[in-house]
Amino acid sequence: MSRIEFDFTNMAAPQRGITAEEIKTACEAAPGVAQALKEKRKSHAWRELPYTDEKLISDMEAEAERINRDFESFVVLGIGGSALGSRAMFTALKHLKYNELPREKRGVRFYVADNVDPDGLNALFDVIDPEKTVFHVITKSGNTVETVTQFMLAARLIADKVSDISKNIIVTTDKEKGNVKRIADNCGFKTYVVPDGVGGRFSVFSPVGLLSAAVLGIDIRAMLKGAADMDEVACVPSLHDNPAFMYAALTCAAMKKGVNINVMMPYSDALKDTSEWFCQLWAESLGKRYDNSGRLIEIGQTPVRALGVTDQHSQVQLYTEGPYDKLITFIEVKKFRTELVIPKAPMAVYDAEYLAGQSFNKLISSEMYATRYAVTRAGKMNLLISLDELDEYTFGALIMFFETATAAAGEFLDINAFDQPGVEEGKLATFALMGREGYEKKAEEMTAAEKSIDGLVMNF
Ligand code: PA5
Repeated sequence: MSRIEFDFTNMAAPQRGITAEEIKTACEAAPGVAQALKEKRKSHAWRELPYTDEKLISDMEAEAERINRDFESFVVLGIGGSALGSRAMFTALKHLKYNELPREKRGVRFYVADNVDPDGLNALFDVIDPEKTVFHVITKSGNTVETVTQFMLAARLIADKVSDISKNIIVTTDKEKGNVKRIADNCGFKTYVVPDGVGGRFSVFSPVGLLSAAVLGIDIRAMLKGAADMDEVACVPSLHDNPAFMYAALTCAAMKKGVNINVMMPYSDALKDTSEWFCQLWAESLGKRYDNSGRLIEIGQTPVRALGVTDQHSQVQLYTEGPYDKLITFIEVKKFRTELVIPKAPMAVYDAEYLAGQSFNKLISSEMYATRYAVTRAGKMNLLISLDELDEYTFGALIMFFETATAAAGEFLDINAFDQPGVEEGKLATFALMGREGYEKKAEEMTAAEKSIDGLVMNF
């Protein structure tokens, strides 16, 4: 039984789409990609996460039970790959107004704080009681300034109320390196490990995301089973039997034609934050200056988030008639959790009368197919991922699909999809601007580089 269908037809169908010759070339390259990923598998521990040890899962479930029993809120403190997976999972698998539900219909309130905007942080602390909150501090490097400062704030506010803050803080970080590891050891915080070979954006199925899942009562085993089943398919060296490779091959072929924007457009509110997660994965993994031989290539495909149907009234005009520089990844959910009938209105609705008795389910689906038809007619490449329903299993499979597609795209493009030197540069510059010892030279270099051009700085 198929639970996810991948329809790549419209990547090839439009006149300027991927040609049969280009697909043939990709088919020939696919075994090499499979072999490369196989050889790297040992160091790519993220691929083993679907097979996570039962003991670790039970441990997290026991923690989750304690949290749900003794606390009111659970807050993820992290950024980028340390935050987006938890949020994607929360939105995808839980009630869309979860935090507003009465307590008997939910667990602890769930928040992800992934910024250092003072107003945002202040707003969060306006609605939670630090004493009754567990903060999950997630940082693989243990040095990320955003996460460390969020932690410092949370720890201060908890310590203002209770003498032992160790019940309120859980840390997930490297097994031995980093500042946060030192803090956690000194303070005796419960600690989980981001295994070696698991980068932030590939870490959803590690404790980075799984503790959130446990706290939210998500069926972790079903989610991991979906991921494991997808992993099996995504190892297959034949392009036509491996949707992750096909996605990678076609999007990379599109890039070579100048289609440098990938619009992720689910027709599902529940998948809105999965788009955000995907955008980070795709952008940070594939946006690279050099290839594996050190050749300057400045490559990448800008991922853009769009939501069906909302963005039909915002973006689709551009997608249809604008530049030939985008492809659209449509995602549909065939069976929503709710079947909602459009009722007969209590007054005459004239031209809208024909809608009464039909369903919102049919409407959203029709709008997706209508938009797909329109962009295809306009000659723009697009593809469709259809989920039978959005449950733990399909969510796990979808995440693993995108992760493996990203890794495969790295191979097709001959780049390292697992580093992020451009982000590191900014992290170091922040240390310099915030006065960290040892970064004085960097601060001087930055001041020297700062200049403004007369006439291009204006005041209002
Ligand atoms: O995907 C990544 O590797 C990054 O987005 C990191 O997750 C992000 O920079 C946060 O890093 P860290 O987990 O080390 O705090």
